[in-house]
Amino acid sequence: MTDKKVTLKQDDQDRVVELPVTPGTMGPSVIDIRSLYAQTGHFTYDPGFTSTASCTSKITFIDGDAGVLLYRGYPIEQLAEKCDFLEVCYLLLNGDLPNGSEMKGFVTTISQHVMVHEQLIKFYSGFRRDAHPMAVLVGVVGALSAFYHEVMDITCKEDRYISAIRLIAKMPTMVAMCYKYSIGMPFIYPKRKLGYAENFMRMMHGDAGEDYLANPVLVRALDRILILHADHEQNASTSTVRLAGSSGANPYACVAAGIACLWGAAHGGANEAVLNMLEEIGDVSKIGEYVARAKDKNDPFRLMGFGHRVYKNYDPRAKLMRQTCHEVLDELNLNDDRLFKLAMELERIALEDPYFVEKKLYPNVDFYSGIVLRALGIPTEMFTAIFALARSVGWIAQWDEMISDPELKIGRPRQLYKGVTTRDVKSISNR
Ligand code: SDX
Repeated sequence: MTDKKVTLKQDDQDRVVELPVTPGTMGPSVIDIRSLYAQTGHFTYDPGFTSTASCTSKITFIDGDAGVLLYRGYPIEQLAEKCDFLEVCYLLLNGDLPNGSEMKGFVTTISQHVMVHEQLIKFYSGFRRDAHPMAVLVGVVGALSAFYHEVMDITCKEDRYISAIRLIAKMPTMVAMCYKYSIGMPFIYPKRKLGYAENFMRMMHGDAGEDYLANPVLVRALDRILILHADHEQNASTSTVRLAGSSGANPYACVAAGIACLWGAAHGGANEAVLNMLEEIGDVSKIGEYVARAKDKNDPFRLMGFGHRVYKNYDPRAKLMRQTCHEVLDELNLNDDRLFKLAMELERIALEDPYFVEKKLYPNVDFYSGIVLRALGIPTEMFTAIFALARSVGWIAQWDEMISDPELKIGRPRQLYKGVTTRDVKSISNR
């Protein structure tokens, strides 16, 4: 334990309160306030948790000012260049990158769990064809809880691990089924011998009536997109998974809660919102009007794909996403893609605008991801489902870390009460 402390003195009291300061291996230290209420009778107040560390974690580190993102200490730029998504899944789950034999074993294990129960598939037919894929995904992933009763003892390390494997392995199958169901096409079952991203592309774009040959450049691009979205510290959806898991809820139900949270336009829903925004702007000549609206306090419009709670510098994932955008559009001879050109012009104008400069608003991971996904033939309403597919490994790794944490307590925040003070009920004739 550190001997560093902070001292708190309330103006109308002589007594001071000392609170320990605990350093991390990187990033800000924390003031341990667990004894604050007992010592002062006060809560802290931090809506949106802008200054609150909710847990200890060893998985992902972000330096928002420097635009740094590390998974288990490895820079995202190096992982995106040198690894594939399943290697990153292994890293997030186990704490280090696999060697050759570990990777072979992991890939084999994942491949053994890519199928979903035939009864689970019946859940899709309960939805309208035009149901939003995230609504379907919340339902189907939550329904997984009903299929693995015999291996859901969360105190058992092996049960936790097989739950993680099942989620990582089945998410591509379930997400692709959301798409096929929405267009009335037969489901394409996964092939165990295909790579993770290639399998997903085949389940999304394959046709039951003929063989599907995936473009390796596009497969690699999708695999990189999954890496960029795999985990991101204690964001809203990960915090949702942790809070749900702190009560002892099973991992599938917790991930379903995370999917529900990710759906919001301020979070994972932003990639879909970016595409809709670019379509609405339509032309470079309209950019000024929309930038002005984004700056107008009386206009609820925000520049989707811009800004971040933590990054006050360029989101390193956005840089990699823009590079992936170039590669994919090059491969598909779509370099004059109008939305990509519109996005780059919008970025240029916004980054020169004092409002965005002063508020340190930069493009985030969602700004370019929609353009790449659209070029990969993925419909806009599926974008956030792809984000959920990628983030499932981060959610389950963070959930597992929390369940294994000796400091685990059920999450139960308090509040600042501003309601009516105590009063007596009058009989209805006297109200
Ligand atoms: C993700 O947390 C994560 O790690 C999330 C994520 C992950 O991988 O899990 O990175 C994924 O969710 C990325 C963010 C995707 N969302 C969007 O692109 C939606 C548009 N962005 C904003 O809604 C906003 O920037 C947030 C939600 C991302 C962050 O909001 P904060 O941290 O609560 O900041 P804020 O709303 O307090 O904004 C600070 C100021 C405000 O102005 P003032 O009230 O101080 O005058 O900046 C302004 C805001 O009005 N602002 C914007 C803006 N974002 C913030 N103004 C115009 N356009 C924007 N996009």
